[in-house]
Amino acid sequence: MSIQQRKDEHIQLALKQDITSNCLTTGFENYRFQHLALPEINFSDITLSTTFLGKKLRAPLLISSMTGGTEKAAEINKNLAIAAEEKGWAMGLGSMRVAIEYPEERATFRIRNYAPNILLLANLGAIQLNYGYGIDECRQIIELAEADALVLHLNSLQEVFQPEGNTRFAKLLTKIEQLCSQLEVPVGIKEVGWGIDGELAKQLVSVGIAFIDVAGAGGTSWSQIEKYRTSDPLLKKAAAAFRDWGIPTSQCILDVNKQTPSTPLIASGGLSTGVDAAKAIALGADLAGYGRSLLEPALAPTPENIIDRLSLIELELKIAMFGIGASQIEQLQATDRLVLV
Ligand SMILES: Cc1cc2nc3c(=O)[nH]c(=O)nc-3n(C[C@H](O)[C@H](O)[C@H](O)COP(=O)(O)O)c2cc1C
Repeated sequence: MSIQQRKDEHIQLALKQDITSNCLTTGFENYRFQHLALPEINFSDITLSTTFLGKKLRAPLLISSMTGGTEKAAEINKNLAIAAEEKGWAMGLGSMRVAIEYPEERATFRIRNYAPNILLLANLGAIQLNYGYGIDECRQIIELAEADALVLHLNSLQEVFQPEGNTRFAKLLTKIEQLCSQLEVPVGIKEVGWGIDGELAKQLVSVGIAFIDVAGAGGTSWSQIEKYRTSDPLLKKAAAAFRDWGIPTSQCILDVNKQTPSTPLIASGGLSTGVDAAKAIALGADLAGYGRSLLEPALAPTPENIIDRLSLIELELKIAMFGIGASQIEQLQATDRLVLV
């Protein structure tokens, strides 16, 4: 099966099948904001603006890396880019390996003309560094996307469940270190929905990783997606056993923030509302990222639906801030009004 077919299958399955965990959740439901009846601020004075990797954002919000490499993916990327520019969000592109291996698909990642001002992240599986990829390929994709940074994804279990998966993960840290020391832009790291813990975060930062996106558990489950894709009965059964695998997103944020407090931190994995973002930021994240929940609104022929969805998330985030009397993101980050229930 070609990479392109795989990309379209991922989109279809993410839209149509139940691909979340069974019992495992993000853990955000365990936290409540203690309501402040007299906020002593004007709602109109609330601002979401922030800075990430030295670039100003109008909101501490990110469209997570999802796609590219097919016609459908190009339409989705275009809508996402137009919406990100309109709202001042950051955006990640999907894995760009397909752009290296199939030059005819490169245009599906060229979204800078729709989003000249956003913080844009190029994306590649870290595992490719063990399969012949190096600094040259990374430079090529950064140049193609005109990206501000590169994010490497860690997806060990997905690679096992994928029939065509690359599973030689040994000695990858040294390759990551080499890349970080040579590349001209910051290199970040993310998971794809099973989470990153504090100890690993510390190790990654020590080899030069500049930012971490926890991509924790409680949202999209890649064992579920690959369970529907594989025709191997053994892999299908094994994937089903991993439905509740992973570190809940809220736990990742706390742990990574504790171990690497000065490293820029993105919270993602299972976020859908602006209240989720408020909780993630109050727990210690700098940005909150949304993946699958943005896919469906991004599918329409025009970007109105996805722009509306981003506006809704922002409104919910602002209302949550009003509810605790925080008019700026730094105040939300420093609040003591997020309590365990
Ligand atoms: C259809 C789809 C495709 C994805 N492709 C990529 C990818 O190419 N690279 C990557 O780093 N993450 C990819 N992801 C993972 C997301 O970036 C995110 O980490 C994960 O879905 C968890 O967030 P969510 O629960 O909000 O979806 C993809 C997610 C979806 C739903």
